[in-house]
Amino acid sequence: MSTDHYPYTDRGEFVPYDRQRLTEAEMRKRASSFYELMAQRRSIRTFSADPVPRDLIETAVRTAGTAPSGAHQQPWTFVLVGDPETKRKIRIAAEEEERVNYVDGRMPEDWQEEIARLGTSWQKPYLEEAPWIVVLFEQRYGIDADGSRRKHYYVKESVGIAAGVFIAAIHQMGLATLTHTPSPMAFLTKLLDRPQNERPAILFPIGYPADGTVVPKLERKSLADILVRYPPDPGGDSRTFVPQEFKVPISFEGPGFRLEPLGPQHNERDYEAWMSSIDHIRSTPGFGPHGTWPAPMDLEANLADLEGHARDFESRDGFTYSILDGDDVIGCVYIYPSTDPGRDAAVASWVRADRAEMDGVVYRSLSRWLTESWPFTAPGYAARPDAD
Ligand SMILES: Cc1cc2nc3c(=O)[nH]c(=O)nc-3n(C[C@H](O)[C@H](O)[C@H](O)COP(=O)(O)O)c2cc1C
Repeated sequence: MSTDHYPYTDRGEFVPYDRQRLTEAEMRKRASSFYELMAQRRSIRTFSADPVPRDLIETAVRTAGTAPSGAHQQPWTFVLVGDPETKRKIRIAAEEEERVNYVDGRMPEDWQEEIARLGTSWQKPYLEEAPWIVVLFEQRYGIDADGSRRKHYYVKESVGIAAGVFIAAIHQMGLATLTHTPSPMAFLTKLLDRPQNERPAILFPIGYPADGTVVPKLERKSLADILVRYPPDPGGDSRTFVPQEFKVPISFEGPGFRLEPLGPQHNERDYEAWMSSIDHIRSTPGFGPHGTWPAPMDLEANLADLEGHARDFESRDGFTYSILDGDDVIGCVYIYPSTDPGRDAAVASWVRADRAEMDGVVYRSLSRWLTESWPFTAPGYAARPDAD
């Protein structure tokens, strides 16, 4: 078997794979900051003509090339176009096809309706304006050194994953792109002189957003909409943790304290409150001496935690409130699905060591609130020895 084209699949050797384990706090910090970064990604359709160094795009392609692929066949080719003449040809050919779609009625009505809110049209000036275009081709089959065909497996899946990695790399370096699929795209094979085994998959104009760029206001599905946990959480699937129609309280006034949903704005105050009270919290009912929290971490890791709680609140996966006296953070309360089948919520609260007298006050006040104002009948909330 030839190894010229496929040395990467035919070796049959193994090498050690060593990756350093990170602490859970560090993992959370990274997970959250990558999420925050990717949540800012948008497709843009107006590009600045400002030049972008070519090596940046090449590094993004190199990064895309790290994607997993069926049988490690890496069935992709990226074509990088920067010269005005070729970009112009691509624009003209794409607009010809898109005019047939949009104006001459080739695009079915239901599809037109779907994309109407994006404000797109047959006109594609960005194909000339963006400093770079990368066309990603899928290799439907491979060609061995002796010219014979080699079957490729999972081409679309592999190319889709590589495209995702590419988009992430472009976004991460501060550039923007559009996932563009002028339909049909066969003109690109000819125009870019690609062989018969390659079929255009996606065209990416890349650059900086033009001044005044706007993007359609879109909402992304929440975690609860896209994640199904199997088996469901024993305490009930968190998608139904509280009923859809339940209006989750966004404030509460108790005797000598108040609640507001915990978020990044509390970071410094929350961090100071618990870092100065680690032993006290560990002896608070519901926390215990052997839990993974509280344990020292840095302010940034705490921020990641807070962002996670704020996301859970928004997606109704769980509800965490900061306990405040005025603007001072004196504690925190967590309301999450329970893993105990006899309980319909798991509740835990702590207060800072120098406000220890508030622990019983908070416990009594919130116990009542949870049964009176929440749809819970049996919330699990570790009893306080001094509470009745
Ligand atoms: C496979 C695929 C094909 C797409 N084709 C086009 C296209 O031809 N023209 C266009 O303007 N946007 C196209 N888009 C971009 C989507 O409209 C866009 O991703 C979606 O509206 C969500 O917006 P966002 O990327 O800003 O989150 C495509 C996206 C994907 C994933």
